[in-house]
Amino acid sequence: MASVFITGGATGIGAASVRKFAANGFDVAVFDINAQAVADLAHEGHSGSITYFETDVRQRSAVRQSIAAAAEQLGAPTALFVNAGIQKLAGIFEMEDEDIDAIIDINLKGALYTVAEAAALMRDAGNGGTIVLMASDQALIGKEGSIVYGATKGAVAQMAKSLSMALVEYGIRVNAVCPATVKTPLTDQVFQWIADKHFSGDKDAAWAAEAKTLPIGRVAAPEEIAEVVYFLSQPTSSFMTGAVVPVDGGLTAQ
Ligand SMILES: NC(=O)c1ccc[n+]([C@@H]2O[C@H](COP(=O)([O-])OP(=O)(O)OC[C@H]3O[C@@H](n4cnc5c(N)ncnc54)[C@H](O)[C@@H]3O)[C@@H](O)[C@H]2O)c1
Repeated sequence: MASVFITGGATGIGAASVRKFAANGFDVAVFDINAQAVADLAHEGHSGSITYFETDVRQRSAVRQSIAAAAEQLGAPTALFVNAGIQKLAGIFEMEDEDIDAIIDINLKGALYTVAEAAALMRDAGNGGTIVLMASDQALIGKEGSIVYGATKGAVAQMAKSLSMALVEYGIRVNAVCPATVKTPLTDQVFQWIADKHFSGDKDAAWAAEAKTLPIGRVAAPEEIAEVVYFLSQPTSSFMTGAVVPVDGGLTAQ
């Protein structure tokens, strides 16, 4: 049975991806800090299993232990989706040290720890595999208030390229996805910041303005990103590795 390991699978794009894989018979291991949301996902009943492993990806020892525990239960993963992330907007003159550390530790170091642990299992199993890293449109373009977040996502996109070189000899393909704005719990909080700064606190107005910045005329649903993640994890994408893939309604084509 195929298995996928997903970090940050409790809500948003991660949860949509958990559903997509589990609906297609994958056994899914979710590494997150939100046990309740993953329990709710598991109760929906899919053809593949959904198992929760409490993991703060900032802690290398926690990542190591959880991935080892998941491998004990499910074997080496066929696919890995490195998705856990946070975003907190702040101007260059208002950034808090604590936020800088958290964004870098979760989005960048957490991704690195996760790949290092899971790719070793794939290498040792000898069956190849796929890795999808969650970058962002902000790996490709700048956005106000996203200075630290954008830096981590640019780094993650670059990491996909180097990892693809490092892991090709083991038959492991590595790609990154770069979504534009998706409606999720993360962006709900981000758009309050934008609304307060530019729309007198009117969050609906902020969302409407965001939709207009995208050539396609709307923001994305989490499922639209999960479809691309799933494709990049399937043999149908067999010639893709080291790719940084925009999923952005035309934003970066302008
Ligand atoms: N929503 C967007 O517009 C958008 C666009 C581009 C990229 N992204 C990226 O997509 C990923 C998912 O974001 P989302 O929008 O679905 O938001 P989300 O908040 O719904 O999902 C983030 C997930 O990561 C988990 N998480 C947070 N901190 C963690 C930690 N320390 N250890 C383990 N898990 C942790 C959360 O519990 C949650 O399940 C993030 O990496 C985000 O940067 C989002």
